[in-house]
Amino acid sequence: MTASSSPSAIGAFDRVAASYDRSFTDTRLGRELRGLVWNRLLERFPPGGRLLELNCGTGEDATFLASRGFHVTATDGSDAMLDEVRRKVEAESESRPIAGSVRPRRLDLADPRGPFAARSFDGAFSNFGGLNCVADLAPLAAALSRWLRPGAPLLLVVMGPLCLWETATSVARGRFRNAFRRLAPTSTLARVGEVSFPVVYPWPSEVARSFAPSFRCVRVEGLGVALPPTALGRALETRPRLLRALAACERVARRPWPLRLLGDHYLAELRREQ
Ligand SMILES: C[S@@+](CC[C@H](N)C(=O)[O-])C[C@H]1O[C@@H](n2cnc3c(N)ncnc32)[C@H](O)[C@@H]1O
Repeated sequence: MTASSSPSAIGAFDRVAASYDRSFTDTRLGRELRGLVWNRLLERFPPGGRLLELNCGTGEDATFLASRGFHVTATDGSDAMLDEVRRKVEAESESRPIAGSVRPRRLDLADPRGPFAARSFDGAFSNFGGLNCVADLAPLAAALSRWLRPGAPLLLVVMGPLCLWETATSVARGRFRNAFRRLAPTSTLARVGEVSFPVVYPWPSEVARSFAPSFRCVRVEGLGVALPPTALGRALETRPRLLRALAACERVARRPWPLRLLGDHYLAELRREQ
């Protein structure tokens, strides 16, 4: 995949922006998974800090963090997603004053040219696979090394190359090519709505290499190891007890090697070197 493939990923998300929350964010499974990420963001970012959010989607994380006292520059490559962020901020501001704490901005991860001053952020994050749409992370790593202050945490939620749930269910259905599709040596096609576009599924060690030497990877944990990917988790919407049981298993399964590498996503925690 080359940088020029990014517009098709962005174009795909443009088309689903208005329905994204309904199909993922507002599902029970989506809330469970996002809650796990929120816990880590709150643990790692300094209270009241200035944060840069990459590929923010509809702004669910940005509005949550703003309600907890952070100042979030919420960026995405999709203008339709950024419109959703503005709508959400306006709606939320009726009950709590967060409007001044979320700044939506357009930023293409493949060609990151933000008008941000050096060391202007205390932390940054990317949630739920935006980085999988970018073949070469080096330009982003270089930009973040300028924009983040030394010691700042960088939390990246990336889709991994081997998802136990996807592989097991594909094998059970005799769909062997699908079982290992993420292990393709170059990019592979993913589909969002009606649009297919190339994506990559890097191992955590590959992400760590892309961000070195300005960033050091300090920890990796799985996300969606016991909890299934959204596409397989629809049955959980009507089975809250099963969802609770899987969420309890998730808390145990996401840490140990090799389970932490076998989720739908993993959360790689990096630090800007001093
Ligand atoms: C799966 S969504 C995740 C959205 C959000 N982070 C969340 O937690 O719900 C992926 C996001 O990545 C964005 N994206 C894809 N390619 C991008 C690129 N090259 N530059 C910036 N954003 C991109 C999409 O527009 C979409 O909002």
